Amino acid sequence: MNARVMPSWAAGASLQRDEFPFSDEEFERVRLLIHQHAGIVLTPSKRDMAYGRLVRRLRACGALSFGDYLGRVGRDGAERERFINALTTNLTSFFREGHHFDALGVHMKALAQASPRRLRIWCAAASTGEEPYSLAITACEAFARLDPPVEIIASDIDTDALAQCVRGQYPAEKTEGLANGRLQRHFVRREPGGEVQYEVRPELRRLVSFRRINLLDRSWPLSGAFDAIFCRNVMIYFDKPARQLIARRFAPLLLPQGRLYIGHSESLADLADLYRPLGRTVYEPVGACRA
Ligand SMILES: C[S@@+](CC[C@H](N)C(=O)[O-])C[C@H]1O[C@@H](n2cnc3c(N)ncnc32)[C@H](O)[C@@H]1O
Repeated sequence: MNARVMPSWAAGASLQRDEFPFSDEEFERVRLLIHQHAGIVLTPSKRDMAYGRLVRRLRACGALSFGDYLGRVGRDGAERERFINALTTNLTSFFREGHHFDALGVHMKALAQASPRRLRIWCAAASTGEEPYSLAITACEAFARLDPPVEIIASDIDTDALAQCVRGQYPAEKTEGLANGRLQRHFVRREPGGEVQYEVRPELRRLVSFRRINLLDRSWPLSGAFDAIFCRNVMIYFDKPARQLIARRFAPLLLPQGRLYIGHSESLADLADLYRPLGRTVYEPVGACRA
């Protein structure tokens, strides 16, 4: 087809859209639904991405068109969950933004010295598990034992990502952020079907529990206060009111000497009444006494 006679949505797109046409109105409905249910703002530039990911769902559930499929998403909770799973971005890695883990290790040691007790960490957008397992490794190293007094709650909205967290199995290329000693100490090498995989050892897995939490929900199924909350590289997908609301709701969940860790491109500068920056996207609650 000549580019000049292509419909505007097809120009420059590498995807074959003959199977299921995707109108402007249908893309708007997708944007509305994902914003309403997950807080995610899909920019117009994500149209091809949305098409490519959702078309697999249309095929899988035998939908006749995008209109038909989006009707199902509205009616059927299970399909809504798959719709959300399809549209989340799960990019993550072991020890991503490594300075946060260094800072957490120092902080855990200081807290343990001040008053020995079980420390609690919430990893609020845990994706496929690399982040919570990096937290667990940091705890083992801070306490120099494989059973540190630390509890990590890993949550995410995406149930497929969470299932991967629970499995704790990673192909070799995903473990590149793990220095050799860490890989050997905390993972078992397996080779199912000739492909090298590393599986989290049971001692490390025991430190982490998993649950589905949508940060947009009015109440979070969590009790007690945290020494640290990691909520990194997820608020960038939300609009400003949602970002502010969620960050405000973290404050009462933090112990006075707790810390909130956010992603490198995120900021809490407009919540100076609640958080004081400690540098490099680490914050403490205002009024905190230093541990
Ligand atoms: C880019 S990953 C970040 C993973 C990890 N925190 C990191 O920094 O490496 C964003 C994660 O946020 C999750 N997410 C998106 N919207 C969410 C919501 N409303 N509630 C909870 N998690 C959400 C996605 O499923 C995805 O796993």
